[in-house]
Amino acid sequence: MTPHHDPHHPPAADAGREWWRSAVIYQIYPRSFADANGDGIGDLPGITARMGDLQDLGIDALWLSPFMTSPQKDAGYDVADYCDVDPLFGTLADFDDLLAAAHARGIRIIVDLVPNHSSDQHIWFQQALTARPESPERKRYIFRNGRGEDGELPPNNWQSIFGGPAWTRVTEADGSLGQWYLHLFDSSQPDFDWSNEEVKEEFRRILRFWLDRGVDGFRVDVAHGLVKDQDFADYTPDPEAASMGGEETPAPYFEQPGVHEIYRDWRKLLNQYSGDRALCGEAWTSSVESMALWVRPDEMHQTFNFEYLLAPWEAAELRSIIERSVSAFGGVGAPGTWVLSNHDVIRHTTRLSLTSEPAQGTGIGPDFPGIPEYDDAVLRGQAATALMLALPGSAYIYQGEELGLDEVHDLPAESRQDPTWFRTNGEKVGRDGCRVPLPWDADQPAYGFNRTGESWLPQPARWASLARDRQQADPGSTLSLYRALLRLRRDLGLGTGEIEWIEGYGEGVLAFQNREVIVIANISGEPVDLPSGAEVLVTSRPLDGREIHADTTVWLRQNHSH
Ligand code: NOJ
Repeated sequence: MTPHHDPHHPPAADAGREWWRSAVIYQIYPRSFADANGDGIGDLPGITARMGDLQDLGIDALWLSPFMTSPQKDAGYDVADYCDVDPLFGTLADFDDLLAAAHARGIRIIVDLVPNHSSDQHIWFQQALTARPESPERKRYIFRNGRGEDGELPPNNWQSIFGGPAWTRVTEADGSLGQWYLHLFDSSQPDFDWSNEEVKEEFRRILRFWLDRGVDGFRVDVAHGLVKDQDFADYTPDPEAASMGGEETPAPYFEQPGVHEIYRDWRKLLNQYSGDRALCGEAWTSSVESMALWVRPDEMHQTFNFEYLLAPWEAAELRSIIERSVSAFGGVGAPGTWVLSNHDVIRHTTRLSLTSEPAQGTGIGPDFPGIPEYDDAVLRGQAATALMLALPGSAYIYQGEELGLDEVHDLPAESRQDPTWFRTNGEKVGRDGCRVPLPWDADQPAYGFNRTGESWLPQPARWASLARDRQQADPGSTLSLYRALLRLRRDLGLGTGEIEWIEGYGEGVLAFQNREVIVIANISGEPVDLPSGAEVLVTSRPLDGREIHADTTVWLRQNHSH
């Protein structure tokens, strides 16, 4: 496909005006979005059927979590065939239909690329298992001899991010106990060896496959983990750190400098295509300053701002991370990005009101102390969203946050499916609580997720009142708030604006101007007065006369006639 004859994509925008600099990107977790065939697991036709609702919400792009062929040991982040659709989700033709339906409505599509590891069912890993040590088949992955007299000990002490050892021993073709392979995640997710040129070439082929099909970009899984320190020295992470990384001194398998060469190579490949295709990296680093290395001008376009996601609901901390993000990303010519929720973290409606927060990946279970009251928590969640969507740059929304969904901490033990739950023997409940299928219609089976009432995780009864059909026409609903914020953000150009802080509202209040909009986020715990002569454009919670409640964000415009 030559850039000039691409039916899907317009020519590149002027530098600085590319869509990904200001887009609001909605994350779809396909197994939990909408289920057209009624088997209890969402699918691609389900998404296509809801494209109108997504357009109505007012987002610019969709990021689809993996739907490629996979035994689903880690909900699709264990890919067996990178260039096909798993029958659970549909077919390649269903994907083409989805892409066409999205593009027809002006919505871009980003797919998830999982380059750190494959599934153990991938043909390459199957070949590696039957091949001999040191063979080319083994060298696509990270096989090593064990320590100890008979190699009975793993090559080092690295632990899997999901718990337990990061190495598994194989049985050789002759039946003897043999080498060990590295898996930073589940034992069903062997890590590729990215020093091998064959691996690099294979991923170029995979990128081209999806680009030629017309996708607008990729979300790159574990973008900080592909290259490992070749010493393979023992390493023990800080148990308080996020499970996916982010320690001050990076682990020997995260943030290794060599990883950047890979993205420079991919950037060149993307640049051969028209339409501003984009790479968005999932890099759990310790700070926005280190994260900015991933979005230097010849690398990725965006990276998720996890420091923002992890910030508590506290004015000084939020201001600091916003300022540092603008400066760190701006310093390399990249847009600021903002995110509050995704499929790996506790939904922000719940998380921002917890009195103590477990490390990312641990999750909260039925016995977790201090589960907040929903009616209060949702107001804080809405205020946080109204603050985030007022910031210039690109923002991510995770499916269901527009309905104000909370974390399902009370899932029954027998329904849990996160590998973390199994690999820690239930000590960590894991991430299922943010992955429960969406409620669409309060009065339908499975709240309209499908027609059969099947659901791979049970939906809580309390979600009936949060179903989309209940919120659709209610001007006070979370859904109406998201729609209003997204419409104004687009109409008033906030994504391409700039922040100018306004002082004087006192501690605990964040106030700034972005274009003509004045944003006041009241995080102080006390009401504050609305400035005089201001027209309220949108508020996350009704005002009390001239008072802005605690846990409320307001967007205003100075009324010049006053
Ligand atoms: C990050 C993904 O977001 C997460 O869901 C997955 O388990 C790991 N990477 C491993 O692929």
